This record gives sequence, C-alpha cells and structure tokens, in this order.
Amino acid sequence: MAKQCIGILGGTFDPVHCGHLQIARFALSSARLDKVFIMPSRAPQYRQCIAGPEDRWQMIVAACRGDDALIPCRLELDREGPTYTADTLPMIRENNPGAKLFWILGGDAFLRIRHWHRADEILEQCKLLVCLRPDEADTDTVAAEAERLRESGYRVKILPMESLPFSSGSIRSALTEGRNPEGLDLCVRELIECKGLYGLPARIPESVAWLSRLSGALKPRRFAHSLAVAAAARDMALRFGEDPLKAEKAGLLHDCAKNIPLPEMQRIARENRLDADDDFLASSSLLHSVVGAWVAEHEYGMKDPAVLEAIRYHNTGCAGMSRLAMCVCLSDSIEPTRTVYPRLEEIRAIAETSLEKALLLSLESTAGFVTSRGYFLHPRTRDTISWLKTLPAVRE
Ligand SMILES: [Fe+2]
Ligand SMILES: [Fe+2]
Repeated sequence: MAKQCIGILGGTFDPVHCGHLQIARFALSSARLDKVFIMPSRAPQYRQCIAGPEDRWQMIVAACRGDDALIPCRLELDREGPTYTADTLPMIRENNPGAKLFWILGGDAFLRIRHWHRADEILEQCKLLVCLRPDEADTDTVAAEAERLRESGYRVKILPMESLPFSSGSIRSALTEGRNPEGLDLCVRELIECKGLYGLPARIPESVAWLSRLSGALKPRRFAHSLAVAAAARDMALRFGEDPLKAEKAGLLHDCAKNIPLPEMQRIARENRLDADDDFLASSSLLHSVVGAWVAEHEYGMKDPAVLEAIRYHNTGCAGMSRLAMCVCLSDSIEPTRTVYPRLEEIRAIAETSLEKALLLSLESTAGFVTSRGYFLHPRTRDTISWLKTLPAVRE
C-alpha cells in the first residue's frame, strides 16, 4: 500500500485567513498530499498572539469546515510549555505510522529555518514545501538557501505562488479600524464579532461560553454552519425589520442538539414532555429542533421565548410562526456555506425582497425533494406551506 503523504501547516493563525487555506490546498494538489494538518501553536517563541489558543482553534475549525483533506490538529495546543517542531514531528509520525511528512511553510519562515530549535532534526524528518510568494521573500535568496540545504542532503521543494493582498496583521488592523477585512472567511468573521476578538466589542458576550460548548458538541461542518446561519439571520432580520441580535442568537444555537444521539434526544423529549409526536420521536432531523430549544434554554441559558420559538421551528416551520422565526428558518436553508440544491439561487434572490415568499419557496422545495424520494413529509411543514399561502405578503 502506498505511504500516506501528510502535509503540516503550522503557525499562529491569528486569525486564520483565506491565504492559509489557499497555501494548504495548493500544497495538497502540487505535492499530491493525502491531507494537511492545520496546526496552531499554543505559545510561539517569537511573537505574542492576540487571540487566545481556543479562539484561534475555533476559527480554524470553522474555516476548514470538515473538509476531509484539511484537518485541524490540536497537538501543539494541548501541550504544556514551549512547543518545538522537532518534538511535534515524532508525535505525528507515531500517530501516523509509515507516513511521509511534509512541512509546509512560507518563504520568510523558510529563510529562518536554520535558526529553528534543532533544525537538523526537522530537516531529516520531513521534506520542506516552500510556498513562495514574491512579496514575502526574495526569490533568489530562497533559491540559494534551498540549494544549500539540498547539498547537505535535505529535501526542499519550492512551490511558487501568487502574492496575497492581505495577511493576519492587515486583517486585525482592518477589524480594529472598523473596515471590512479582505481574506476573512465569513464564519470566522462572525465568530470574531460575536465574541469580540481583536479589540472589537463583543456583540454577544454569552457566545464565548456558547461557542466553546458548540465546538465540542457539533461536528466541524455543523459548527461552521451555525456561525453562517447566525450571520445570515442577522442580515435578514435587519432587512425585514426584525431584531438582529435575537436572530443571530437563534442562528448560533439553532442546531445545538443536532449531534445528540437519537435515543438521548428521545429521552429528553419524553422526560420533559416536549411537543414531539411519534414522527418527531423517530427522526433526528425532525427532533433536533424541538430538543434544541430545550437544550438552548436549560443548558445554554437562553430564556428569550422568541429565540426559543425560532429554534423550535427552524426545520419544519409552523403555521403562525413569527417573522423572527421565519428569518432563522430561511437562513438555515440559504446561508452561504450551504451545499447547493435545486432552486437555491432563486430562493436567495427572492429573500432579498420577500421573507414570506422566499420561505414558502424554500419549504416547497424541501417538500418536493422529500416526497420525490419517497421520504416522509411532516404535516407541520405542509401546514406551514398552506398558511404561508394565505398571507397578504404572498398573495399580493
Ligand atoms: Fe437543523
Ligand atoms: Fe441548521
């Protein structure tokens, strides 16, 4: 069997940005790697981090979104004391026996490598992939250094890349100056603004505790989706005159029960006499909304009935639901990271002007998909569709 080829991209990721992911994906394809570990350092030797280790970790999880080839790696975060690459590589080797290791780094880091702690051990254990941007380091100097290392028997490959107009530093400056930062993933930005990182005021102070909990309770793709729904619901609430903060909070928490095993959800629903019929009790995709409202109230401390209603009806909708709940239900279906499905762009376009019409089309699209596959469509969704059709905003 062919040996696994594993790339390692270390750094502070303060914050992670699109350029980091671009380097990882570029190395992945150029060097035909099987996967790349994105590995934030806890306490780097050469610079102070602005955001804490767990904040940087959550931003990486959100940015990678469960991409099978980009794997957030906690190896250095979970170690006490100084973390040296020379100590990390054997740990990766131990966890991935037989794998070939590739250390991915930029031109400036490459020119410093001979000053790294026990540099010779690093160079012996892995091949260096130098992703070289012309704005970052002098091409001739990098080529000369690579040649010098090759003459010593080490493996170095230079991968020329295009320059980037942004960096973590420029993103931090833009955020603190209230400008729109280029190169920042929308889920990462939502996390920064909710928690109030990099000197911003925290928009949702409770989100610090919520996101710690959600990052452990949800799969990475679901965690990122929750941030994307929060951002979309906030925008939508602003557009349609609803409370943006309530919409955003409901967006963050709407899937908090999504990864609870079904038997556990059934127990919570039965013990607390939640409004869940046998069809709800038989299906995770139905039950997680009802149980989610309970979990949000009792485990996340959300007491606002409007937010809880939005969580409770985010998947099926409900005849007579509030417009705030509509914003969350619709955002769940059309947030920007959503996998493409038929009529998605049409629904997004209608959502620019009509909340009710867009939600109707979204639920009809879901109903059509479910019934065409022979799956069960819950009557609550059918009732919501019928009710939406009676509304003046839809009939006019
Ligand atoms: Fe959901
Ligand atoms: Fe969702």
